Amino acid sequence: MGLTFSVVTTPADRVAADLLAVPVAKGGVLTPGAATVDAALDGGLQSFLEEAGFEGNLGEALAVPTSGKLRARAALLVGVGDVDKLTLDDLRRASAAVARRATKASTVATTLLDVASAFPRNDAAQALAEGFVLGAYQFLEYKGDGKPTKLASVTVVGEGGSRLQDALTRGSVIADAVVWARDRVNTPAQAKPPAEMAAEARRLLRNRGVSVQVLDVPELERQRFGGVLGVGQGSDQKPRFLKLTYAPSGARRPALAFVGKGVVFDSGGLSLKTGAGMETMKCDMSGAAAVIGAMSALRDLDVKTRVTGYVPLVENMPSGHAIRPGDVLRIRNGKTVEVLNTDAEGRLILADALSVASEDKPAAVVDLATLTGACVVALGEKIAGLMGNDDAWIDQVRDAADRAGERVWPLPLPADYRRGIDSPVADIKNVGPREGGAITAGLFLQEFVDGVPWAHLDIAGPAFLSGDDGYLPKGGTGFGVRTLLELARTFKPPPAPKNSPRRARRVPAKTAAKKAAKKRARTPKR
Ligand code: BES
Ligand code: MN
Ligand code: ZN
Repeated sequence: MGLTFSVVTTPADRVAADLLAVPVAKGGVLTPGAATVDAALDGGLQSFLEEAGFEGNLGEALAVPTSGKLRARAALLVGVGDVDKLTLDDLRRASAAVARRATKASTVATTLLDVASAFPRNDAAQALAEGFVLGAYQFLEYKGDGKPTKLASVTVVGEGGSRLQDALTRGSVIADAVVWARDRVNTPAQAKPPAEMAAEARRLLRNRGVSVQVLDVPELERQRFGGVLGVGQGSDQKPRFLKLTYAPSGARRPALAFVGKGVVFDSGGLSLKTGAGMETMKCDMSGAAAVIGAMSALRDLDVKTRVTGYVPLVENMPSGHAIRPGDVLRIRNGKTVEVLNTDAEGRLILADALSVASEDKPAAVVDLATLTGACVVALGEKIAGLMGNDDAWIDQVRDAADRAGERVWPLPLPADYRRGIDSPVADIKNVGPREGGAITAGLFLQEFVDGVPWAHLDIAGPAFLSGDDGYLPKGGTGFGVRTLLELARTFKPPPAPKNSPRRARRVPAKTAAKKAAKKRARTPKR
């Protein structure tokens, strides 16, 4: 990691750097920074743009000769589109375009902030830093001929002083957490079994104000994590469960809970996927990576809220000891699940995780999971599905995602669809009808949330992309990290509305837990 950012007020033509990147608006309209480059070319820039066919569309980039007339060694024009319509996400994209082109320059200076005057300067600076770090991302771990970028530092040309510097640092801290998540997702499953993921989390979170508790199989048995154990039993790589705690001084009780699906590889189990269906399934721990990555940045961002992370880690494999279709699991909260499709495994491990999270009585919980192909069918690969049991909390998550520049869209959890997962032998079954698959998965999860405002992000699409898209790379994107961090930074405990489904559910949920406890007392311990 580590692009470093700094601010200078030196005029653009006097800034020392390997590359000076200046924005050009749609139609080749020069911004003040580009005018500097124009002056260096004795007014020849417009005709150069026309010859090169450069239109100033967002993300377009063009190197221009400077004949030694700038202090910077070279200049790069970057298109920003229509400046009047520019969004912070456009600024991320333009910054990323510069980072992608600047792989041979170690230092880049830029006047890009000039085009974001419609936004609070700190927000723009944060977005710029995010765009540079995320755009510069490469995963070369397994490449013999990879060309690592030389880009190491970015100098922002403009007024703003130390507050601007803080905002740039904030953006780079957030983006570094995203980069960590991307690396974990892109890492092949062979190199990230649950125990290794736990070790990586420990390494990352050491000295970052987060304590890490790792539950191994005997402990999971003692604590009745039936979902995690059931899914994990088919693999030689034994499951783990992480509990991560960030408790800044002064903050009380677990205010905010993050839950992330950590299936390090999803073969489908005995309900085996097709060969093609498995190709990207190293990505099935993207929710876990987002939670762990986000937790690593809380202290640097000076988050005042207490945050707890719950991360079930398993490998879903077929074998002689794998769980079978028809088997019944007893989840941590006592409810039983008939497992009719071993490929609907995410909800089984999340059921345990949401149960323990609920026991800790947080003010709100949000889970992230690459949960269903159906969600990708509904919303495409760029937008996550958002569901939950509490409208105020769902809105809070949606607003945080919007501010962070991560695309989410709400899906309903209609109560009458619940009968789609009624089981003839257990409390619930793990698959419903093919139609509405993202929704039945959400309804399943809801059964394991007890008395807490809950939101669920199905990130099966945006966690892992089939091609580059601006600052989002092909492969692992680290989706969710930015939303979680924005949520933590701005968290407000959602009010419990009268007549809310939460209150209405309280009674039956408690009854269910009591019933389950009685049942447990009756069942002899193995
Ligand atoms: N991990 C998959 C979901 C997924 C699909 C993630 C595509 C990313 C891209 C999940 O465990 C799964 O297999 N879901 C099944 C559920 C079905 C069996 C009810 C699915 O979506 O097909
Ligand atoms: Mn699956
Ligand atoms: Zn899965």
